[in-house]
Amino acid sequence: MKIAVIKETGAANNISGEARVAATPEAVKFYVAGGHKVSVTKGAGKKAHFSDADYQAAGASLSASNDACVKAADFVMSINGGTKALITKMKKGAGIFGLMNPTDQPDYAKACAKAGVTAYAAEYIPRISRAQSMDILSSQSNLAGYRSMVEAAAIYGRAFPMMMTAAGTIAPAKAFIMGAGVAGLQAIATARRLGAVTTATDVRPAAKEQVASLGAKFIAVENEEFKEAETAAGYAKQMSPEYQKLQAELMAKHIAKQDIVITTALIPGRPAPKLIDKAMIKSMKPGSVLVDLAVERGGNVAGVKSGEIIETAGGVKIVGILNWPSRMAADASALFARNIRNFLPLITAKDGSYAPNWDDEIIQGCALTKDGAVVHERLK
Ligand code: NAI
Repeated sequence: MKIAVIKETGAANNISGEARVAATPEAVKFYVAGGHKVSVTKGAGKKAHFSDADYQAAGASLSASNDACVKAADFVMSINGGTKALITKMKKGAGIFGLMNPTDQPDYAKACAKAGVTAYAAEYIPRISRAQSMDILSSQSNLAGYRSMVEAAAIYGRAFPMMMTAAGTIAPAKAFIMGAGVAGLQAIATARRLGAVTTATDVRPAAKEQVASLGAKFIAVENEEFKEAETAAGYAKQMSPEYQKLQAELMAKHIAKQDIVITTALIPGRPAPKLIDKAMIKSMKPGSVLVDLAVERGGNVAGVKSGEIIETAGGVKIVGILNWPSRMAADASALFARNIRNFLPLITAKDGSYAPNWDDEIIQGCALTKDGAVVHERLK
């Protein structure tokens, strides 16, 4: 199989400044050892600290541009898909893999169908146990959770841990994490490591034990609706207006006492739930930091600005930074590359050629297009 690794343009997700790359030199070495030919666009790994020389040493050939890189490829590896113009440069019948934000960018799948290219949307890989090693949402969210807490600590003008010094005692920071999924749990673990007094909430009952196992205190409205709030797939349901009211009352009291709040709450296929309103923000002390990891899906925090850090009149900083995994590009790329490496057998025939296994539920779950048509249920 001919594999192409492109230099990111952020295309399918409208992201600028993407620093990740979909294959590391280590991954390239593995593909080449497996008999594949790998072409990498010059400078593809630069922002993630992987040099062209490292890719060459791993056995890749370098291409001067993305157009040249994908021209002969059977399978294109990307973080955010290629531009629509790049898709037209691909071979008919080839495949492209990446995070494609399919419901927000329906034109992208249409462009792939028109070019006769199969688009594999990384975010649609089913979350079944066999696919855990390919789960890009998890590998990247985990890093996002870590980085958001480290960034909050840097922005916060005080210490996180309790410090007892000859000059007096510094009280520990109070950190509260809303949404204890993959990102939230790592944010909790990081807050604990940094020494903050850590609490967390979620609407899924399963989260309670996970939060406790990390040594944080779980806070939630634990009524009958809460007991039913998890879907069979392990995701949160949209909560009723009554529940949301009770939740808001409990959260308002708690948030007023917090120094750091990180929100990560998402509901698949819906805008992010609004969890923090203006009055709650006003109740927080000057110098407090609110980080909204759900900003890309509309945000959990009132007034959050996409891509910006703003300060309210009351001195509360609201952080709307986008694309957290890109801030840890080397690690994020390594995990992303490992996820694709685990996906590769599903599109590889015994003789090593490109041949997607359409009987496999993972391929069916993530392929947006096939034979010139948009085939994914969620896009029809
Ligand atoms: P996510 O990114 O969709 O949502 C983040 C968190 O926000 C979730 O924990 C959700 O319950 C919470 N949330 C939603 N609405 C909320 C509200 N109103 N208030 C407070 N919290 C709210 O979820 P993520 O992180 O992708 O994973 C969620 C769960 O999915 C995991 O805990 C696990 O059970 C399952 N999962 C399964 C995997 C597998 O089997 N391969 C891999 C990863 C996750």
